[in-house]
Amino acid sequence: MLKIVVCVSGGGTNLQAILDAVEQGRITNTEIIAVISNNTKAKALERAVSHNIPGIVISPKSYPDRDAFNEAFAAKIRELAPDLVVLAGFLVRIPPQMVADFSDRIVNIHPSLIPAFCGVGYYGLRVHEKVLERGVKVTGATVHFVNEGMDEGPIIAQKAVCVEEGDTPEVLQRRVMEQAEWILLPKAIDDIANGRVTVADGKVIFR
Ligand code: GRF
Repeated sequence: MLKIVVCVSGGGTNLQAILDAVEQGRITNTEIIAVISNNTKAKALERAVSHNIPGIVISPKSYPDRDAFNEAFAAKIRELAPDLVVLAGFLVRIPPQMVADFSDRIVNIHPSLIPAFCGVGYYGLRVHEKVLERGVKVTGATVHFVNEGMDEGPIIAQKAVCVEEGDTPEVLQRRVMEQAEWILLPKAIDDIANGRVTVADGKVIFR
């Protein structure tokens, strides 16, 4: 049984996709042991509690500095001892020590086709604003393992989504969520939980 902790910051639609997939049997051999948010107001926490999953808030605002927050966050993850940490709309940089402690055991969903439109400053709606500004015709989402870089870890899967005439950032974000994120992340978790995906020397291996 793969024990996972899901880290969230906002609406939690990716968390909801995971919860639904577990309920519907599209994710097997997996238990969500906790949801952690840096944001006390995250709707994602309500989604966790309504599924009887502990919702834990670790907010940078509660700590004197970033190092103190990083240590508290890493300590909580160590205490929970998950097999996999899932970043689902989580807007906090993962502390280097935690990346080292959980090497190849942290996955993230990013709302673009990495290496396009990723890295520092590319998160949430801003990604789709930049996609529309640039005028690309195809965007999508990427699920990847997290390494010490920003959106640079080994890619597990990607899914393309068409940009349509007249798209606003909000309309495009929703399409990318519906047609890519909410499909890719549950599938990646199920693949990892059932031994179909591993990482070796920074390369993702499918069995
Ligand atoms: C969305 O922009 C999503 O693309 C990205 O994080 C943001 C919030 O997602 N992964 P969620 O609704 O909180 O899962």
